[in-house]
Amino acid sequence: MAKKYFIKTYGCQMNVYDSNRMANMLEEMGLVKATGQRDADVVVFNTCHIREKASEKLFSDLGRAYQIKLERAETGLDTIMGVTGCVVQAEDAEIMKRAPYVDFALGPLRYFRLKEVVNEIFNKRDVQLLDTEFSAVSKFDLLPENKAEGACSYLAIQEGCNNFCTYCVVPYTRGVEMSRPVEDILKEARRLVQTGSLELNLLGQNVNSYHGEDAQGKERNLAYLLNKVAEIDGLERLRYTTSYPADVDDDLIDCHKNLKKLMPYLHLPIQSGSDEILKKMNRRHTSRDYLKVVEKLKKANPDIGMSSDFIVGFPGETDEDFKKTLDVVNEVKYIQAFSFKYSKRPGTPAAVMENQIEEKVKKERLQILQDLLFDYQTKFNESSVGKVMPVLFESKGRHKGQLTGRTPYMQNLYATADDSLINKIVNVRIVGASMNSLSGEVI
Ligand code: 5AD
Ligand code: SF4
Repeated sequence: MAKKYFIKTYGCQMNVYDSNRMANMLEEMGLVKATGQRDADVVVFNTCHIREKASEKLFSDLGRAYQIKLERAETGLDTIMGVTGCVVQAEDAEIMKRAPYVDFALGPLRYFRLKEVVNEIFNKRDVQLLDTEFSAVSKFDLLPENKAEGACSYLAIQEGCNNFCTYCVVPYTRGVEMSRPVEDILKEARRLVQTGSLELNLLGQNVNSYHGEDAQGKERNLAYLLNKVAEIDGLERLRYTTSYPADVDDDLIDCHKNLKKLMPYLHLPIQSGSDEILKKMNRRHTSRDYLKVVEKLKKANPDIGMSSDFIVGFPGETDEDFKKTLDVVNEVKYIQAFSFKYSKRPGTPAAVMENQIEEKVKKERLQILQDLLFDYQTKFNESSVGKVMPVLFESKGRHKGQLTGRTPYMQNLYATADDSLINKIVNVRIVGASMNSLSGEVI
């Protein structure tokens, strides 16, 4: 019987992308996807280090997985346990100390070795592998071809970051910024469309600072790449994430006016509305700069819906600073957003800054901010009722006979529909709305 694998993914979309590539590799080895950890011969935890909670959760999950491994061993089944992703890069020694039963640990730039490592452990059993090198060679050159997982695929075009926001671990876990060559991306994009994707989401930690080379060795920007990818027949929808406000150029804004396939939704994190805090965060923009970019985007496409990330309780944040964040929310009226309490990350400059904010204050501010954000999100969803929107159905819904998909604005939508509509874009009349989802009727 074929061996089975199980991958648990934490964190950002880049990790979802990496997990898909790892799944492809394991399938090339003849493994098939397991229904859960209990029936998996290879278990991989693809981890996130962005906030303390994410990394702590890993260790409790690992403990539980080890119990399952021991129970499987009692019935004569062997389990290979591996950890990949950003926690490995940041806490390699810690993992091996706290979870010595882990068979391998590969950093986010090293998982192209997965096949070789799993094979070696299958054959020799007694080896334990840890690899967190920051390689000069791009992992993308060493990975086998990518394959779509469904109607929507992520495609990494850029990795790493040189911005060094003072709260953030990414430059330390994903390394310095690097852009993949245009031709490599187009090849992967075509393959993802050929293997079933109608929507592509171009990914990077700082995606709009993309500056990859074309076939002639000329550096190209994200706008150029979006135009090229949009030419692919069979591709219906295009998105990109995550953007850095100071790097949004006019070419990119023009894409929101001219590129029909580019969806009218943009995730553009501001983090804080206070210029004092933005400075301490080492962000290269003020709140005014940010609002100007949003204004230009709305001019290019009046229908664009904005999304953002926010951090509350950054060291030194006063009530006044926090109020400025609320002001930005009231100005932009985000249709979706992600907000977090500041979390100290070892090794980052903000972790040792003075005036760290009490947990109680962070909690209160987060609650106030989320109430406001959820209010705008709900209002936006409610304003969709009565409209007809093209929905890309991705999978079965929670209830029988129901499908779930997404509108151009990334809203989750549920509708009674036949399974044959999965992986299709269908016009749907919106009949109901809540904070997190819409319901609709297929037309
Ligand atoms: N604490 C809280 N939130 C953080 N983020 C990044 N680092 C931290 C941190 N130390 C948030 C930012 C970023 C998102 C991916 O996670 O808002 O945009
Ligand atoms: Fe988490 Fe950042 Fe790593 Fe993504 S890149 S998994 S958000 S630490």
